[in-house]
Amino acid sequence: MKRLGVLLSGRGSNFLAIARAIREQRLPGAEIAVVLSNREDAPGLAAAHKLGLPAFCVPSAGRSRVDHDAEMLARLHQHKVDLVCLAGYMRVITPDFIRAFPDRIVNIHPSLLPAFPGLDAQRQALEYGVKISGCTVHFVDEAVDHGVIILQKTVHVKDDDTVESLSARILEQEHIAYPEAIARVLSGEYTIEDRRFVSHENKALRVTAR
Ligand code: GAR
Repeated sequence: MKRLGVLLSGRGSNFLAIARAIREQRLPGAEIAVVLSNREDAPGLAAAHKLGLPAFCVPSAGRSRVDHDAEMLARLHQHKVDLVCLAGYMRVITPDFIRAFPDRIVNIHPSLLPAFPGLDAQRQALEYGVKISGCTVHFVDEAVDHGVIILQKTVHVKDDDTVESLSARILEQEHIAYPEAIARVLSGEYTIEDRRFVSHENKALRVTAR
């Protein structure tokens, strides 16, 4: 079994999408080992308790990033986590944290990266006037919203979209994309090559085509 550690700060709908995918056997060989929130009042934390999962708050308020991440890491190790899934975890993590899980931290972001990194991605997309947006699941590296892309899903932006309506349509795609991306990472059938996340199958085809 591959053990997932889910980190969140708020609503937790992506966490619930992952939990549902496991229940529905769309993520074979995966289980949620622990859910960690940096906020006591995160609805996602309450939802995890309700599901009977090991779930803890590691409060970040008033603490240094290094100190907070050290406690987060200790919890992840204690629960023998293999893959860390950031699901609306609204904190930048330290280089030490990233080094502790090389290519084993994934994140979901509500835009087609590299467009619109950072906060309020859906508002940024609307204000820019793009006609297509979506979501990206990517590995986490030391730059914000920058790591190797695992997969993306697109949505059309409508003329009368508001931040709320666009966010809701992107979120539907997030709930599909995140479990699919985790399944690919855990499958062992993909590797990272020159910043690309490629399937072994396609790699074999490319080699024969040369
Ligand atoms: C999601 O839209 C996720 O993509 C976004 O926060 C929301 C969390 O929702 N994450 C980021 O913007 C990270 N840069 P959720 O708590 O319902 O999963």
